[in-house]
Order: sequence, then structure tokens, then C-alpha cells
Amino acid sequence: MYDPKQVKKNFPVLDQEVHPGKPLVYLDSAATSQKPKKVIEVMAHYYLNDNANVHRGVHVLSDRATDAWDRAKETVAQFVGAEKDELIFTRNTTEATNGIAYGWGDHNLGKGDVIVTTLMEHHANLVVWQELCKRTGANLEVVGLKDEATIDLEEFAKIVKKPDVKLVAFVHVSNSLGTVNPVKEMVSLVRKHAKEARIVLDAAQSVPHLPVDFHELDVDFLCFSGHKMLGPMGIGGLVVKKELLKSGEMQPWLFGGGMIGNVGEQQASYADDLTDLFTAGTPDVASAIGLAEACKFLDNLGMEDVMKHDFELVEYAFKQLSGIKGLEIVGPRPEKYNRLGSVAFVHDTVHAHDLAQILDSEGVAVRSGHHCTMPLHKACGWQATTRASFNVYSTKEDIDSLVKAFDKVAKIFKL
Ligand code: ALA
Repeated sequence: MYDPKQVKKNFPVLDQEVHPGKPLVYLDSAATSQKPKKVIEVMAHYYLNDNANVHRGVHVLSDRATDAWDRAKETVAQFVGAEKDELIFTRNTTEATNGIAYGWGDHNLGKGDVIVTTLMEHHANLVVWQELCKRTGANLEVVGLKDEATIDLEEFAKIVKKPDVKLVAFVHVSNSLGTVNPVKEMVSLVRKHAKEARIVLDAAQSVPHLPVDFHELDVDFLCFSGHKMLGPMGIGGLVVKKELLKSGEMQPWLFGGGMIGNVGEQQASYADDLTDLFTAGTPDVASAIGLAEACKFLDNLGMEDVMKHDFELVEYAFKQLSGIKGLEIVGPRPEKYNRLGSVAFVHDTVHAHDLAQILDSEGVAVRSGHHCTMPLHKACGWQATTRASFNVYSTKEDIDSLVKAFDKVAKIFKL
């Protein structure tokens, strides 16, 4: 098992005071993780030494850039258990779900078809389907929760048994509740009862925290963001089962240079090579290289240990925060149900934004609001929650600092 205090030394940004005498305690990793020095260095190295456009040049720098981009794609695909051709680089998870809607949904859904999602989804895995329904005439079914914490599997089973279910989209790890959903069980319910349906897994909050294997999970689409998994902002991934790409069931949704076969004035044919077909325009080579380096960093730590560390932090946070009067942690209890990555809470007296502001004055960075899960917050009656979230560099001492910062909350609000 690695020592998070040693790991932390790889993240220069964490070594600073944010207010006089207040060292930074970064507990906002679910919004974005920090980046190891090595990730920043490989990106700088690329721009300082190798920058050129890919696939279009016959000169040395273009060859180097092409090689580096290809290798990066291989590394990132392997990290999520996919083949290189199955990975399409996107800007983030949101662009990945939009890619499914435009590249698959528009060609395969029609009036009366059903898209199933859940109440715990991030807006990236909800609003996109609302819009797809408007375009195609499909209907959206939203599965509810049990105890404001876990997906209601009985309701899920009932809904996927309905006729014409064509797409089922759900999150692996909830960004607001921390809930780790039983993907295998949910996939087998879909495969049994909705044989024609395709499955989307939003893995934005799982890929950074636990081993994810696309083929083993047996979903059709997997979406993730690089910036939440120690990589740079502006790159993420959409993994698509190869058979969907090869058969043309999933089609490109971006058109232009780099993805064509032959172009005439009125029409064009498109590339046979799957990587080319789904890479219109100049790709973000430096970010791909940075993301591959982030995958290597996580691989070196070992994703089983990353997950173990994360479970320990969540348990510790529950224990330590439970002593704070008026505070209630939302989502499942860790002793009863797997949860990872974050703890969000509500206070009976202090508003979430006030809490976050006071904690910040003590150097503790957390996020407050609805965390892009407005329907969940509305259904549970939370105006807003405050969330502390973790990554490989987070320590029990960070959680102690969070708890200590509540002394100031108590002092200001005379609690
Ligand atoms: N989706 C990100 C979060 O959960 C921004 O904070």
C-alpha cells in the first residue's frame, strides 16, 4: 500500500498557503484532480521539443507527434480495458455522452423508443438524453432511489422490462452521493430484459478511483474525463464496443479534415481506419500525452490500492465528521454499501455556501451547490450540499483539517 503523504510530494500545487498561515487542504478532487509534476513535464516536453500536427506530415516532428499520440491512445485504452480502436478522445465526459447522442442516438432511435436513466445522474448523463428525446421522439424514464442513497433496483428491473427500451444510461460512482452502483447486476438485468438496448456507463468518477475494465463490465459505451484522473483538462474518452463502430451502428458526429476517404464538391467518403474516422480535425496531442502519463502514474500506484485508500478515507471521514453537531452526511453509509470518492453533507443551521466559504478561510477547499445533479438535490429536498472529495494524494490529516475548520463555523454561527 502506498503512502499518500509521499504521493502528495508529486503535486507541487498542493504545497502552498492560500491565506496567511493557512496551508491548502485540497478536498475538491471530484470537480477536478490535481496533476502530478510528471504529467505537466511531459506536456511541456512535447511543446518544447516535438510539436507538429499528426498524420499529415512527412517530417521528423510530425512523425514524433504521430508516434506519441498513437502510443498515448494505446496506453489510455489499455488503462480502461479497451482496445485502441475502441477509444475516441473527447474533451470530457460531457462531450462523450453528446457523441453517443449524435453519433448513435440520432441514427438508431425513433418515436416511442425508451431511454432509461436514473435520478442520481450528473447533468451530462441526463440533459443530453432529454435533448435526444426532443430530436427523435423517444421517451425518457428516470429510475428513482432508495433511501436517498442507492438506485432502486426493483424499479430499474421493472422499467427495463418495458417494450422498446433502446438505451440505458447510468453512472458508475455518483459524484454527489459517492454510491458505487452494482454495474454487473444492472447490466445483466438489461441484457436479460431489453435485448436490443445499448448501455452507457458514466465512469467519470470511477476511472480515477477503482479498476475499470470496459470489456469485463460488458457495457456498450463508457465515458470518462482526463482531468478527474490526474490528467490535464480538455481531454477525456468515449469507449465504444468495436462491433458498433465496425458495423456503422455508431457513426462519426464530427466531420472535416483527417476523417475522410475521398472528397468531391458535393459529397465525401470517409476513412476506413476507425481512429481516423472518429478524429476529425487536429487532436489535442499534448493532452493525450499528459493523460497517458496520468494513467501510468495511477498504474504505478495500483488501482486496487487506489481504491483501498479511497475506501479508508471515506470511512475515516464518516467517523470524524459524525461528531459535528447539526451535520448530516448524505448518501449510503459506508458500513452498509460501497461508496467512494467523496462525502457531501448538509447542515441544519448553516447554508452550504456559507460552510464552503468559512472552510476556505481556513485553507480547506470544498465544493458547494448541486454538483450538476439538480434533480437529485430537488428530490431529496436539499437546496445545496457541501462536498469534500478525495484523490490519491488525500490524507487522513486533510480530513482532520476539515473537521478542525468546523470550529470556526461554530464560532461564527455561535453553535
Ligand atoms: N462534475 C464535476 C463535479 O462533480 C464538476 O464537481
